[in-house]
Amino acid sequence: MTEAVQTSSTFTPRVFSGIQPSGGLTLGNYLGAMKRFVDMQEAGTHETVYCMVDLHAITVWQDPDKLRRATRELCAGFIAAGIDPAKSILFNQSAVPEHAQLAWIFNCVARMGWMQRMTQWKDKAGKNTQNASLGLFAYPALMAADILIYHATHVPVGEDQKQHLELTRDVAIKFNHDYGVDFFPVTEPVIEGAATRVMSLRDGSKKMSKSDPSDASRINMTDDADTIAKKIRKAKTDPEALPSESKGLEDRPEARNLVNIYAGLSGQTVDQVLADVGGKQFSEFKPMLSELAVAKLAPISTEMARLMQEQDEIDKILAQGAGQARELAAPILKKTYEIVGMVGA
Ligand code: TYM
Repeated sequence: MTEAVQTSSTFTPRVFSGIQPSGGLTLGNYLGAMKRFVDMQEAGTHETVYCMVDLHAITVWQDPDKLRRATRELCAGFIAAGIDPAKSILFNQSAVPEHAQLAWIFNCVARMGWMQRMTQWKDKAGKNTQNASLGLFAYPALMAADILIYHATHVPVGEDQKQHLELTRDVAIKFNHDYGVDFFPVTEPVIEGAATRVMSLRDGSKKMSKSDPSDASRINMTDDADTIAKKIRKAKTDPEALPSESKGLEDRPEARNLVNIYAGLSGQTVDQVLADVGGKQFSEFKPMLSELAVAKLAPISTEMARLMQEQDEIDKILAQGAGQARELAAPILKKTYEIVGMVGA
C-alpha cells in the first residue's frame, strides 16, 4: 500500500470503467466500451483500470453459478478483445471491498432525489418501485465509488451511462464541499466515436441490449459467422440507397445504426464510410458489414472460448488485478475515513 494520496486537483491521469457480468456481451458493449478501453490502454497516456462489476449485477437477482461463469467469461472477453493484464489492472469488483466501503459513505452524501431522477432506475424498477431492491436504487452511488476509489479522471462509457457519470461528478463536488476539501476529482466522461449508442437491429429507436427478449435484435460476442450474417441480413432498414454524407442519415435511424456499426468496427468516421459506400443499396452494404463484423468478432469469440477452458489462468489474472487495485484503493479509502471523522482510520 505505497501510493501517496493526492489531495489537490492535480490527479494522475487514470481511466476506470466497468461492465456488468449479467449475461453475454453484445456488439454494443464491444463497440461502446471494450474496444475503446483497449484503445485507451494502447494510447499509454493514462493508467487503465477495468472491472467486472459483480456487485452491480446482483442489484437484480442472479443465479450464483451463472454469475460466477459470467464473471469469468467477461474476463475472457476483456483479454480476448485486447486488454493486457500487464498493461491494465483487470479484476472483479467484489474482490476489492473498498468499493462497497466507499459506496456507504456516498450513500450518505447522495440525495434520494438524485437517485429518483435516474432514467435507468425508472426503466429497471418499472412500475412496482416498492418491490425493487434497495441496491438497485443506490446503484449510482456504488458506481461513483467504483470510479472515485481510484481518483479516476476519465471514464469511457456508452451514451446510456452519461447520467450516472453526471451523478458521479455531483457526488465528488458535494463531498468536497461538505467536508471543505479538494479530495475527489470531478471525473470526465469519455463518450466518443461513432458507436457510443449501438441500436437494436430490429428497432432503430431502441438500444441494443443483452436483456432484449429478441435475440435477433443484437449481435452477441459469442455468435458464429452464420448467425452474425443472418442477423445482419434480417436487420431492419429502409428502401433508400445510402447517402454520401452523414446529413443524409437524419431521420433514418436503422440506416444510421448500420453505418455507425460499420464505422465503429472499421475504425473510420461515419463520413469516411459514407464516402465509400454512398449510393449503394442495403443489398450490397449488408454483406460488406457482415464480412467486416465476422472478421473483427470471430477471432475474439474463438479466443474467449479458448480462455474459458483455462479457468485457473483467469482466476489468477483476477486475483493479481484485485491485489493491484487494492493498492490504489486502500490509501484513498483511509484518507476518506479520516476526512469524514472515523476514529482508527
Ligand atoms: P453495462 O454493463 O450495461 O454496459 C457496459 C458498457 O457497455 C456500454 N453499452 C453500450 N454502448 C453502446 N451501445 C450499446 N447498445 C451499449 N450497451 C452497453 C455501456 O454504456 C457501458 O459503458 N453501470 C454500468 C457499469 C458500471 C460502470 C461503473 C461503468 C458500474 N460501475 C463505473 C463505468 C464506471 C453498466 O451497467 O454498464
